Amino acid sequence: MPRSIRACTFLDKGGTGKTTTAAHLGVALAEQGKDVLLIDLAGKQGDLVKHFGCWETVERQIADDNDWPNISTVFQDQWAAIAEKLGDAAVEDLVLQTDEGVDLIPAHPGLDSLDAELGNIDDAHDRYSRLDSFLDEYIEPLGYDAILIDLPGLTNNVSYNGLWAVRNVIAPVEMGPFESEQAEALRADLDKIAANFDVDVNLAMVLPNKVDTRTTLAEEYLEAFREAYPDAVAPAHVPVSQDIRNAAEQGRTAFALEEPSTTAARAREAFLENAEVLAERLADARAVRPDGGDSTDRGESA
Ligand SMILES: Nc1ncnc2c1ncn2[C@@H]1O[C@H](COP(=O)(O)OP(=O)(O)OP(=O)(O)O)[C@@H](O)[C@H]1O
Ligand SMILES: [Mg+2]
Repeated sequence: MPRSIRACTFLDKGGTGKTTTAAHLGVALAEQGKDVLLIDLAGKQGDLVKHFGCWETVERQIADDNDWPNISTVFQDQWAAIAEKLGDAAVEDLVLQTDEGVDLIPAHPGLDSLDAELGNIDDAHDRYSRLDSFLDEYIEPLGYDAILIDLPGLTNNVSYNGLWAVRNVIAPVEMGPFESEQAEALRADLDKIAANFDVDVNLAMVLPNKVDTRTTLAEEYLEAFREAYPDAVAPAHVPVSQDIRNAAEQGRTAFALEEPSTTAARAREAFLENAEVLAERLADARAVRPDGGDSTDRGESA
């Protein structure tokens, strides 16, 4: 079974804080002493890498045609041959070190066409398990304790690869009527995956984000989420904080702010508390993985 704990941020909706959550939970896990790898599958705009001030480096590599191999390469038929030819450099070239203690595999424009390319693979197991195989064969040997993946805010072949590879979803939700519908739709989606494939994807954490507790409505939505997801809801909600937005614009997370505002400090505490609980939940989920985590014999059941 994989040594690492794995999860993705996913919800079939834009702007709820998936990327923010991946970045902050990643740094929180690193603060707790874990070796963390973040992977950005969310699209070529590189939002995750922008949280760590590395976007210019990545953009320059792309502009200089010095961007191969990249995250989209690992999904291709030729990847095994490429990896063999390049040796250790194949994976080393994919991974960036950040100054907030996490490593990161950035997004790439090649992700744009990846959904369609994966759609051309006839065998469903092969279509959805490419990332899983890549993680098992090429990333696990690097010894990361935790792998977090930022997924696109829609259900496609790329996000299915992410779900298949990590089996655990962190869903950041805003406090509103559409969000509870969206979380319900996510739960239905995960049930559908379980029914169609031999893969149980666990809703590991529903994370209330951008919560403004000055409004009674927010309290009501929080309570509703706690009731609907008693096992999955995060122990601490993340407050709405202009500092989180500002930090992202400056290319860092709230953890790197020298003088955080009250809300940013509370957000940090919340992410730290949630990271600890997440790590426990993921370790428990890993222990009960029915296939023992061996990706080679995972069969399609439908
Ligand atoms: N707790 C928060 N307080 C204030 N702003 C926040 C908070 N969390 C996220 N944001 C801001 O909300 C916006 C959307 O967040 P983010 O990019 O993380 O969402 P996303 O779900 O990844 O969006 P997309 O679907 O576009 O990928 C960003 O500008 C981000 O800085
Ligand atoms: Mg995003």
